[in-house]
Amino acid sequence: MSDKRKILVTSALPYANGPIHLGHLVEYIQTDIWVRFQKMRGHDCHYVCADDTHGTPIMLRAEKEGITPEALIARVHGEHYRDFQGFHVAFDNYYTTHSDETRYFAETIYQRLKDRGLIESRAIEQYYDPVKEMFLPDRFIKGECPKCHAKDQYGDSCEACGTTYTPTDLINPYSVVSGAAPVRRESVHYFFKLSDPVCQKYLREWTTGQLNETPPLQPEAANKMQEWLGLEGENKLSDWDISRDAPYFGFEIPDAPGKYFYVWLDAPIGYMGSFKNFTDRSGKDFDEYWSKDSQAELYHFIGKDILYFHALFWPAMLEHSDFRTPTKVFAHGFLTVNGEKMSKSRGTFITAESYLKQGLNPEWLRYYYACKLNGTMEDIDLSLEDFVARVNSDLVGKFVNIASRCAGFISKRFDGKLGSPDPLASEEFDSASASREIAQYYETRDYAKAVRKIMEIADKANVYVNNNKPWELAKLEDTQENQEKLHQVCTTALGLFRDLALYLKPILPKLGIQVEQFLNIPLVWDDVYKTLPEGHQINTYQHLMTRIESKQIEALVEANKTNMQATVEPEPHSEQRHAEHQQHTIQPIAETIGIDEFAKIDLRIARIVKAEHVEKADKLLKLTLDIGELEPRTVFAGIKSAYDPSQLEGKLTVMVANLEPRKMKFGLSEGMVLAASDERGGPCVLFPDEGAKPGMRVK
Ligand code: 2FM
Ligand code: ZN
Repeated sequence: MSDKRKILVTSALPYANGPIHLGHLVEYIQTDIWVRFQKMRGHDCHYVCADDTHGTPIMLRAEKEGITPEALIARVHGEHYRDFQGFHVAFDNYYTTHSDETRYFAETIYQRLKDRGLIESRAIEQYYDPVKEMFLPDRFIKGECPKCHAKDQYGDSCEACGTTYTPTDLINPYSVVSGAAPVRRESVHYFFKLSDPVCQKYLREWTTGQLNETPPLQPEAANKMQEWLGLEGENKLSDWDISRDAPYFGFEIPDAPGKYFYVWLDAPIGYMGSFKNFTDRSGKDFDEYWSKDSQAELYHFIGKDILYFHALFWPAMLEHSDFRTPTKVFAHGFLTVNGEKMSKSRGTFITAESYLKQGLNPEWLRYYYACKLNGTMEDIDLSLEDFVARVNSDLVGKFVNIASRCAGFISKRFDGKLGSPDPLASEEFDSASASREIAQYYETRDYAKAVRKIMEIADKANVYVNNNKPWELAKLEDTQENQEKLHQVCTTALGLFRDLALYLKPILPKLGIQVEQFLNIPLVWDDVYKTLPEGHQINTYQHLMTRIESKQIEALVEANKTNMQATVEPEPHSEQRHAEHQQHTIQPIAETIGIDEFAKIDLRIARIVKAEHVEKADKLLKLTLDIGELEPRTVFAGIKSAYDPSQLEGKLTVMVANLEPRKMKFGLSEGMVLAASDERGGPCVLFPDEGAKPGMRVK
């Protein structure tokens, strides 16, 4: 059996209404390195992506610019493609979701879900701009923050104090589009019935890895999923609203005039659309990668903010419409610059275009990101000072230095021909085992470890050169022995340099090509086992990489300060990427009850005397609550994901004091504390205002 794998890889599709910035590039560079590695290993690996072109922001942006959405997305497509190429991100296809292929798959998937009874329509209430005559996503409603009273805050959260809320909480809310006060209006929406037991059961199995050979999610992501899914039988998922009303830029839903697929429905389908366009052009077989019984591997690289879409909605959609599901979803963290969120005023919201325009080498950034990426969901920091120091010391000081100190002697003294390498050095360096180790790090996306190992080898190679001092050997008497020694030392060093360039090629592809020209050989992974043949002719060494000057970085930051002041609209921070499209659905209020019924619930102020972890419980904290009774109560609360016990001890909260005690695996739970949550976050425990005392009744 051939061990050549068939692999399809995607990165998240960037919205077609803003520039690519260094935050985006974390993901594209991470993915590109992985794809290049797989290709170097000889696998059949394809990397597709596209612009995410639909939705209200894009429609309104085009309107503001006085152009059609089609014209806007065509322009932005060109800009994105240019920036990706500039950073050597080599897609096999970079397409658009506004395509026949994506429309076809969106309609097919929708129809199949409908046939299975997994689509439902019902009326819901949402915020509506009565002047512009359109429903408003939360980001298009602004007003005064109810907490800190900062003016002009978005409908979902306050940028001044960080509070999150719903648009109705704002004081004097207004539509960003027309300035009118939003009103609530009813309209029919289409839902994907994620709450259906069939979906919940499937997702519970998929997210816990029961259906794949290896778990499809990183452990941190799998835990998050368990929280969203709840315990068996809990059925925590609500149906997903997949339609938006006209006016909207997107695909109209078949047989539902005036209703459009929500952008997040067709965005991941854009992965299929882009691949279909690729297979149609290249003669490859689409079904081999997407049919239910596909043996190919499918990987999605994404930011952790869009895990919900890729690990819940997307596999459920695919499974129930008879397509294959992802092999793995790889989530990464956010980028901070100098330890803080990217900021336009500080000039750290750096666009890809400005970086390249300033003449900075894209491979410097690729290398720095590789040093930081370890395959987890942790955030990564671009410390600009460290960036300069690291690139200069590793790439210029260690790596390039090996070649620049030895190549000249080969050209001048030996007609550009290599000699035979030092057998002792070959043994000491053990390329076979080093290459296996590095390959394993690339495979698991732990580029930080790969780079560390590569730099260890570079350090050792430099020690070899330092100990053997070719520049001194060259000054010795011109005997055959001295000549041979010089030839051997330089050949050995260049052989090690070849290995290093090869290991670094997924990260530094352009430099890899320059090294191939210089050494006059292709850098092939398996060749690491072979030494360069004696007599092999190399080319004259040309300087491979310059140092970064701190003033270049200062100029970059300066350019982004002015650059951003000139732009029209704020871009949401990366963690809010999907929020810009969110429309707040006011959850239907439960059935009316009389005051007598409410009075049956005995709510009390409780002091949290003690809060502790519970061994082997993923979600629970054990709380000891004082409500003024002789003995404190014990309550097990599912709030571990949001609170550290030390944050809770001593605080007051509200508990249901007359809930029937429940026997749990970990002990008896004698009540319940109140906490808020929905798909936007939580659980958020309720803390009463000053003056409340343990035992007081809450009415
Ligand atoms: O968050 C975003 O930027 C989205 N445009 C990502 C879409 S990824 C995929 F589902 F298409
Ligand atoms: Zn505020």
